[in-house]
Amino acid sequence: MPYQAERLPREKVFRDPVHNYIYIQHRIILDLINTKEFQRLRRIKQLGTASLVFHGAEHTRFTHSLGVYEITRRICDNFQRNYPTKTPGDGLWDDNERLVALCAALLHDIGHGPYSHTFEHIFQTDHEAITVAILTSPTTEVNQVLRQVSPEFPVQVASVIQKTYPNPQVVQMISSQIDADRMDYLLRDAYHTGTKYGTFDLTRILRVMRPYKDGICFEISGMHAVEDYIVSRFQMYQQIYFHPVSRSMEVILNHLLKRAKEDYEKASNKNEAAAPYLLFPFFNHEFDLDDYLLLDDGTLTTYFAHWRQSSDPILADLAHRFLDRKPLKSVKFDEQTQAKIPELRQLIEKAGFNSTYYTATNNSYDLPYDAYDPKMKKPMTQIELMQSDGQLIELSTVSALVSAITGKFSGDQRFFFPKEMLSSKESNVELFDPVYKAFQTHLHNDYII
Ligand code: NI
Repeated sequence: MPYQAERLPREKVFRDPVHNYIYIQHRIILDLINTKEFQRLRRIKQLGTASLVFHGAEHTRFTHSLGVYEITRRICDNFQRNYPTKTPGDGLWDDNERLVALCAALLHDIGHGPYSHTFEHIFQTDHEAITVAILTSPTTEVNQVLRQVSPEFPVQVASVIQKTYPNPQVVQMISSQIDADRMDYLLRDAYHTGTKYGTFDLTRILRVMRPYKDGICFEISGMHAVEDYIVSRFQMYQQIYFHPVSRSMEVILNHLLKRAKEDYEKASNKNEAAAPYLLFPFFNHEFDLDDYLLLDDGTLTTYFAHWRQSSDPILADLAHRFLDRKPLKSVKFDEQTQAKIPELRQLIEKAGFNSTYYTATNNSYDLPYDAYDPKMKKPMTQIELMQSDGQLIELSTVSALVSAITGKFSGDQRFFFPKEMLSSKESNVELFDPVYKAFQTHLHNDYII
C-alpha cells in the first residue's frame, strides 16, 4: 500500500480540552507528530507573555497545531460526505486533496520559535520562511516523513502554507478570514485564558461551510454563526492579544534580548561562564536550521536566570523584571500628544533610568474583518455567503453587525515607562521630587495630556 494511503490499523485519538478527541487515521500524520521538530512545539507556549496576565494560558503550539489539524479533518469529512466532485473542475471537493490539507494544517506553525514576535524582531528571523525550510530541507525528520509520499510532496505542503497551492479550497481552509487556524486559536485561547469572548458555534460553522470553484463559502442560513465568530475574534484581540500588561512584558523581553546582544558585541571574551552559547549564532546573525531548532521557552528562560546575576546592572535588572513579572506602566497617546514623548523620556533619564531600555512606544491594531479592497497591498479573502439560488453575496453587505466593524482598524498606541515614575504618590521622600511631579502632570486617566 502506498504510504499516503496507509491507514492506522485502528485510529488513534488525542484527548483535547477544546475538541474532545483529535482523530488520527493516517500513518503519515502520526509519523509527523512523532518527529523531533514537531515535539519541540510542546516546549513553546502559544501565547507567550499573555500567560503573565492570564495565568491559565500555558498551552503550547503543539496543542494548537493538533487542533488546526482536527478542524481541517472535520472540514474534509463534511466536504467528502456532502460535496464530492463528480467531474473535474465542477468546483466541488476532490478528496485526493485531503492529505496535503491535513499535513499543511498540522505543520503550519512548525517554524515558530520561543516568544516568536519579539525574537523575530531582534534577530531578524522569519517563522514562515523557517516553516518552509523545515518542510523542504532534507536534514529534518519532517522532510523525511513527507518525502515518503513523493519527492514533490514537501514543496506541495509548503505551497499551501505560502498560499501558492493551485487549489484555493485547500489554501482557504488553512488561511483566510475564517480558517481552521483562527477558529482553533480563538477557541483554545478563550478556553485557557478563562475568558468567554472567543467562544462561537464551531459545529454550526463547519456544518454550513462548503466548497465552490474559487474556494470556500458558507450557506446563508449560517450567517449568524459566522457573525458571532467575527465578533468573538474582534473581542479577543481587544481583551487578550492587545492587553497592555502583556505588551509591556513583551517590551521588557525585547529590551532584555537587545541588551544581551549588545553586551555580547562589546565583550572581549565571548566565552565567559554561563555565556548564552545557544544564542551566539543569532547574535552573530549566522544561524542555521539546527541552531534554530535548539531554542525553546526553556532554553531562553535558563539564560534569563543567568543574566539576572550579570555584572551589567541593566541586563540583570531587565532579567529580574521579566522573570519576576515587574511590568512597565503605560499610557495611550495620539498624533497630538506624541510630541510630548521626548520630554517624558528626558524626565525618565533625570530620574536615573536609561530611556533606551526603560521606555518604549508600541501600537497594536487589528482589522477585525475586511471586504475585498483591490487597493490594499495584500487583499484578504472576503467571506462569501451562498444564497438559495447559488449566487454568492459578501458577508458585510447582508450583516449590519459585521458591516459596522468592516474595514475599521481598532486598537491603541501606548508609551511604556517605569512604574517608579508614579511611585512618589505614596512615598514622602519623593513626594516633592520635581522630576516625578513634572512627569505626572503629563498623564491623566491612562492618557498623555
Ligand atoms: Ni496557528
